[in-house]
Amino acid sequence: MYTILVANPKGGAGKSTLSTNLAGMLASTRQRVVIMDLDKQQSATNWLARRPALLPKIMSWNEDTDMEELRQFGPQWMIIDTHARLRRADRTYLLSRANFVLVPVNPSVFDIEATAKFLIKLHQDTNVQSGKVAIGLVGSRTDSRTRMAQELNSFFQRSGLPVVMFVPDSVLYPQCARDGMSIYDLPRTRTEQQLEAWQPLVDWIKGQMTRSKDFAAAVTTVPEHGVVQVA
Ligand SMILES: Nc1ncnc2c1ncn2[C@@H]1O[C@H](COP(=O)(O)OP(=O)(O)OP(=O)(O)O)[C@@H](O)[C@H]1O
Ligand SMILES: [Mg+2]
Repeated sequence: MYTILVANPKGGAGKSTLSTNLAGMLASTRQRVVIMDLDKQQSATNWLARRPALLPKIMSWNEDTDMEELRQFGPQWMIIDTHARLRRADRTYLLSRANFVLVPVNPSVFDIEATAKFLIKLHQDTNVQSGKVAIGLVGSRTDSRTRMAQELNSFFQRSGLPVVMFVPDSVLYPQCARDGMSIYDLPRTRTEQQLEAWQPLVDWIKGQMTRSKDFAAAVTTVPEHGVVQVA
């Protein structure tokens, strides 16, 4: 099982939007996905509860999850949607389990400043330094024509980290959030621009998976008991 951690200490950075649409993207390609929602607001968990039964199944992993059912489901991907106030110990633990970390950032100077500090902390982590975890930056709610989008892009370039995608600012995301759907569950005629925007993320993940045998060997398995306990 590959583990994707979605994290940014800034509230409203787009973590749950990225987590749920990523889950929808993987599920739409017949991948078995489980979401671990560490946020007390339970945005991703509530999204899953609203998800129409006819859509590709995505499981939730929380303290109420039937572990036998989860094991039978056999998740290939775990997406961890985090909250804005991750403690250092929790961050370290989650990084030790993750294969990917996606950091969504809004095009705003407040968000950029908060994220700059977070990226320094990520850089100091031993699992990041050893290359076990691949970090990817994601622009949230970005309109490429705006000056702030350009500033976000130059911040990304200066960080030296891979820039994996820019999620357009679109009403489709709050609509999907309301309906328990992802853009991958909508008719293609409505989502052409979005799917194009998401393709670099799809390609990046595929590229990372094939980049080395070590990376593939580092995949984590479903633990015997319970969920990750994070305050
Ligand atoms: N690309 C987008 N286009 C339009 N609206 C968006 C987009 N991405 C996120 N939003 C909206 O921005 C708000 C914040 O997004 P989201 O809840 O995903 O952030 P978050 O980082 O999970 O927040 P929190 O830190 O509170 O968990 C939500 O109302 C969401 O619907
Ligand atoms: Mg959230």
